[in-house]
Amino acid sequence: MRRSTMIRTVTRVSIAFLCTSALPLVASADDKGQVAFNTHCRNCHSIEKGENRLGPSLFGIVDAEAGAVAGYANYSGALQGFRWDAATLDKFIADPKSVSLNTTMVFPPVADAEQRAAIVGYLKASSGQ
Ligand code: HEC
Repeated sequence: MRRSTMIRTVTRVSIAFLCTSALPLVASADDKGQVAFNTHCRNCHSIEKGENRLGPSLFGIVDAEAGAVAGYANYSGALQGFRWDAATLDKFIADPKSVSLNTTMVFPPVADAEQRAAIVGYLKASSGQ
């Protein structure tokens, strides 16, 4: 292989690698959503699959069945029998008790509709949805 060909090949491979490994970063390039998530949710939630904190992992939560994250042991039992579509998520983070009176998710609600939309968008994008 000529040196220039080799350099080109190596460059292509590294670019391909960079693109693949940067995927989560690209998905979360929606900085506004990420910042809002970090501000309002991250103390209790991760978007990594299987990483349950005080609250369940929110990986893939958009359109998922409520109360069904594997390995999360602290569900109140109040979030069941529906799916987390974008509208329900929006309602929940504006006021958790408006979705279920008995939920144990208690936090300072996100009053700003734009921030809520950014968070839901981020939840979607960061799960590759
Ligand atoms: C103070 C900790 C805390 C904060 C902050 C918090 N949550 Fe939660 N969250 C919880 C707990 C605890 C539960 C489990 C509630 C239950 O079972 O009733 C939960 C449950 C959820 C669920 C239901 C998951 C499922 O499997 O059905 C969603 C969705 C959710 N949170 C989204 C958010 C979002 C989005 C934010 C930020 C806007 C947020 N939460 C902020 C503690 C928190």
